[in-house]
Amino acid sequence: MPKIGIIGGSGVYGVFEPKESIKVHTPYGRPSAPVEIGEIEGVEVAFIPRHGKTHEFPPHEVPYRANIWALKELGVERIIGITAVGSLREEYRPGDIVITDQFIDFTKKRDYTFYNGPRVAHFSMADPFCPEMREIFYNAAKELEIPVHERGTYVCIEGPRFSTRAESMMFRQFAHIIGMTLVPEVVLARELGMCYVNIAAVTDYDVWAEKPVDAQEVIKVMQENNEKVRKLLKAGVPKISEERKCGCADVLKTAFV
Ligand code: ADE
Repeated sequence: MPKIGIIGGSGVYGVFEPKESIKVHTPYGRPSAPVEIGEIEGVEVAFIPRHGKTHEFPPHEVPYRANIWALKELGVERIIGITAVGSLREEYRPGDIVITDQFIDFTKKRDYTFYNGPRVAHFSMADPFCPEMREIFYNAAKELEIPVHERGTYVCIEGPRFSTRAESMMFRQFAHIIGMTLVPEVVLARELGMCYVNIAAVTDYDVWAEKPVDAQEVIKVMQENNEKVRKLLKAGVPKISEERKCGCADVLKTAFV
């Protein structure tokens, strides 16, 4: 049973040769695609392409709850979420990797929780990401000499449109990177007591930097980033210990009303 799950973002497909593909049904419908099981450097992992096999789910239509539920059901305890992001700051350059440490939620209309009653829960989201996995992937990127930021606040917008210039100018006051998919994925992982790390790959400067975001340009840089992400997974995944000393699951103890 794989204990590590990878949710791949745009352009991140085929990070390993799958041994098996499992169709999972969940109380929240089907995940974005059948879950692929394979190995990275001898470590068993499960993989879901967030946007579907043929990129059929836009960010606001991704079946986030089904994806997280499916991974949990297969025995996954730790999730690596790969995302493509825009930059809100000069020093976060296209091609850089960010090991996100905070998020701000500007989404509007998603399924944010597994607890819609009668069971009620309020989870701490003070530190949303697994400190053990954050350290592993930051160190791995450093060792590989991949340009990496140890921290970054990710503002998650609803999409699928990009931001206006006014929105972008506002977001850059309080965040470093911008994307459309981190929320509610990270929140749902926490609700099931799973660890979550976000590896964000910068594809563009958002529109605060005069030139409008161009989807074609984003795709080109994304393909280049893909190679870095593969290397990072190969280096980082074998370093993730089976035993969790991070305390990510402890939030379950205090969440229920
Ligand atoms: N994903 C990649 N680049 C983005 C941007 N500039 N805004 C929102 N999501 C993105």
